[in-house]
Amino acid sequence: MRAVVVESFGGPEVLGVVEVPDPAPGQGQVLIEVEAAGVNRADVLTRAGEYHRAGRPPVVLGLEAAGTVTALGEGASGFRVGQKVVAMGAAGAPGFYAEQAAVSAERVVALPDGLDPAQAAALPVAWHSAWYCLHNLGRVQPGETVLIHAAASGVGSAAVQIAVAAGARVIAAAGTPVKTEWVAALGAHEVLDSRALTGDELLARVADLTDGRGAEVVLDTVGGDVFALSLKAAAHGGRVMALANVALAPSTIDTRDFYPKNVSIHGYQSTNLIEHGYDPRGDLGQLIAKVAHGELRVPVDSVFPLEDAAGAHRRLESRATRGKVVLTTGAPA
Ligand SMILES: NC(=O)c1ccc[n+]([C@@H]2O[C@H](COP(=O)([O-])OP(=O)(O)OC[C@H]3O[C@@H](n4cnc5c(N)ncnc54)[C@H](OP(=O)(O)O)[C@@H]3O)[C@@H](O)[C@H]2O)c1
Repeated sequence: MRAVVVESFGGPEVLGVVEVPDPAPGQGQVLIEVEAAGVNRADVLTRAGEYHRAGRPPVVLGLEAAGTVTALGEGASGFRVGQKVVAMGAAGAPGFYAEQAAVSAERVVALPDGLDPAQAAALPVAWHSAWYCLHNLGRVQPGETVLIHAAASGVGSAAVQIAVAAGARVIAAAGTPVKTEWVAALGAHEVLDSRALTGDELLARVADLTDGRGAEVVLDTVGGDVFALSLKAAAHGGRVMALANVALAPSTIDTRDFYPKNVSIHGYQSTNLIEHGYDPRGDLGQLIAKVAHGELRVPVDSVFPLEDAAGAHRRLESRATRGKVVLTTGAPA
């Protein structure tokens, strides 16, 4: 089969398609013909050798995919050959930038008919993370205010829609007027151009928009200086979710910005959570049902063929994306 194999860490140019042996499903595994694979920032960091769980090359990237079941390993049940599914990868396991992947049945969820594979491929990691953070950690309630940083990103654009669907009021911060206009069209109630505002100005806008209360829920994938703002922007009893550090920078925080407000800070990392016993299938199944019913719409920024994984990474690194970047293998949908 064809797969994108990182033979040595480096820039996007190290992403080349090579022929590798077809995988066979092991004990409890499902073999999937990959139709589309979501491209995540963790892939970019792994490619560059900067991801904390990158392992050593050679590495096949890709943490999420949509495709068709082609075989079942011994003990793998609940699926049939020909079934459409999404799958979630594991740190250190062969990834989904490939025509086929063997993955534990515990990380596979069936898809209803008719879902676009490029959209479905965004669900297991980016969308599922937004869902888990808002519902399971943030316990978002109707009428609450949710502040979402980098709201046009893969995770951010999911979070905007999930929060709106939960009945929350969404303040979405994104980096350009093009992006703020786009997140408003996704349903965000208020938008802030994060690159045009200083941190203090952003906080003043959040205070203004909430009559001084702040946001009950804050979703932070940016980290660095933005995380310090997230704590300041949180309302009394607020919940702040830190699930990434796109800024690749430490945060200087003052504990007085959150403990007097009884604010809780939640860390989230999907693969670690699963490795420590969380079964993602229930939440992912609920999310898939909402997408299938048209309650949530997965925006795909761009689709690249497997041969141009480098282009997909360049696009993600451009910081211009709105929604998800996806790779397709050319397999029939
Ligand atoms: N913890 C987990 O389990 C988990 C799960 C899924 C994703 N993640 C992580 O969540 C983060 C966001 O993922 P994503 O798919 O939404 O990312 P994405 O689509 O690539 O978007 C990232 C956005 O972050 C903003 N940003 C702010 N500061 C930045 C900086 N210094 N450099 C680059 N971008 C910056 C940019 O938007 P603006 O131009 O609007 O500022 C950029 O478009 C990634 O780090 C990803 O690895 C974590």
